[in-house]
Amino acid sequence: MTTTVVAKETTDGFETIAAYWNGHIHDWAIATQPPGSLAFFEELDAYRFDKLQYLGALAERTGREGGKLLEVGCGIGIDLARIAAAGAEVTGIDLAARSIELAEQNFGHRGLDGTFAVMNGEQMTYDDDTFDTVYCHGVIQYTVSPAKMVAEIHRVLKPGGRMILMGFHKNSWLRFMSVTMGVPLEHVEAPFYRLFTVDEMRSMTSMFAESRLDFERFPVATKIHKGWKAFAYNSVFVPGFNLMPRFLTKRFGWHLLVYGRK
Ligand SMILES: C[S@@+](CC[C@H](N)C(=O)[O-])C[C@H]1O[C@@H](n2cnc3c(N)ncnc32)[C@H](O)[C@@H]1O
Repeated sequence: MTTTVVAKETTDGFETIAAYWNGHIHDWAIATQPPGSLAFFEELDAYRFDKLQYLGALAERTGREGGKLLEVGCGIGIDLARIAAAGAEVTGIDLAARSIELAEQNFGHRGLDGTFAVMNGEQMTYDDDTFDTVYCHGVIQYTVSPAKMVAEIHRVLKPGGRMILMGFHKNSWLRFMSVTMGVPLEHVEAPFYRLFTVDEMRSMTSMFAESRLDFERFPVATKIHKGWKAFAYNSVFVPGFNLMPRFLTKRFGWHLLVYGRK
């Protein structure tokens, strides 16, 4: 059902990134079920789509549009499984071999078809003009050169193909809360970690014939933090923020999305 191709690293930094993510699978900290079991993937799926309220609908819509879709930095394949179940022919790549192994198990449990490879999203082995859609969510802030990754995404897209790209927003409510409350954001210790301004995202994606920038990810109650700060956050900040009209708060969303067309 799946193929794993191991791409050789040639540039400094990528082995460090792979080592970090092999040991820090995204959202693993909340898992209570045996790693690799169906219950484990279901638990991480439920956690992710509850926290990122816009994402389930986006993944399903993207999958329903069909065609050949590549996910760069697919992790354990939570989003990709939704996309595949909705109808797209999917390929997932990641630098972390442990993530790719788990992504294959995730697809196996669900009876889904997908192709997987351990591969660097800044140096992909795919031909030009291969994919109808490239999806890359929460990855560019952790790679060596985000601009090179975006250029590679553009290269492997067919003319008219579309990119769905998400990077973390520097001027966001979440960063403000993290600084004010003295609570570090997840994975701030990851190699090459950085945040993006709107101008940086726009300039990095300027080679796309069309592009639209949007903001997502607004406060939801934390399930991983404890103590008085978590209590204040859950009982005061989250409801208070969400009472404000979204048109006023939208530009401070934590997720900066660029929908591009080649
Ligand atoms: C925070 S995780 C996100 C995983 C998944 N996209 C998600 O949202 O759950 C970041 C992932 O990006 C991968 N990554 C970072 N740089 C990469 C690169 N240059 N090529 C491929 N994958 C990369 C990491 O190995 C890690 O699995």
